[in-house]
Amino acid sequence: MQIITTVKEIRTLVKEWKRQGQTIGFVPTMGYLHEGHASLMKAARKECDKVVASIFVNPMQFGVNEDLDSYPRDLEADAKLCEAIGVDLIFHPEVEEMYAEGFCSFVDMNGLTKELCGKSRPIHFRGVCTVVSKLFNIVTPDRAYFGQKDAQQLAVIRRMVKDLNMDIEIIGCPIIREEDGLAKSSRNTYLNDEERKAALILSQTIRLGEQLIKDGVLNTKELITAMKENIAKEPMAKIDYVEAVSMDTIEKVDKIEGMVLVAMAVYIGKTRLIDNFIIEA
Ligand code: PAF
Repeated sequence: MQIITTVKEIRTLVKEWKRQGQTIGFVPTMGYLHEGHASLMKAARKECDKVVASIFVNPMQFGVNEDLDSYPRDLEADAKLCEAIGVDLIFHPEVEEMYAEGFCSFVDMNGLTKELCGKSRPIHFRGVCTVVSKLFNIVTPDRAYFGQKDAQQLAVIRRMVKDLNMDIEIIGCPIIREEDGLAKSSRNTYLNDEERKAALILSQTIRLGEQLIKDGVLNTKELITAMKENIAKEPMAKIDYVEAVSMDTIEKVDKIEGMVLVAMAVYIGKTRLIDNFIIEA
């Protein structure tokens, strides 16, 4: 497995693979890899001849008071995990390689980003769309893999690929959880023991929401109120949002009908965690 830091080198390699008729699977990440990322890489390994993972903590998708500087990094451990899965290449550029002096072109989206994380992190998806477009242009993959834990991100990327006629198949992969239910996330590392226990309120509330819908609660106001009340039982939790939106448009819905995404962001101490489920009714 190679670790490459420049666009020039990766282009040369990818051109050669394409000349040989090999298909390329791509897993974009910000590193500090866990089993969630591993599941994406394993899917790519199964379905493609070559697998490229990128590790790049993208400054453009972090707001001013967010955790860019403290975002966890461990290239050595990440490389081991990638190697064990059979990733062929890690692309690990410096910020200057991705954003040269004078950089002033962006990819942004009007729809799909007004609710959920787009509402509480206003510049986030502009940064995500811009960096993912750049990475797609650099790696030119046939397929790219994203986790459903960032369900809004997955919807945004699918829309961007469709709107901008990018010839890439986007594959969404299920949320991977710890044994006790907490969704795997690089940010879980911020939690101390007490916060780690308190963080279980997210997955418990996800299960509660699923059960309520099974029991016939299809009015989203009622559903969201019950979910918020459950989160409020945990003193360390502070709700950013709990919402039910259409999976296609990421706009709020009054009823559970069609494909609906029920998503939440909750602060446990200073750590902002997200979780969700998708339901078809
Ligand atoms: O999901 C992430 O880790 C990031 O948002 C991504 C897609 C790698 C873009 O920086």
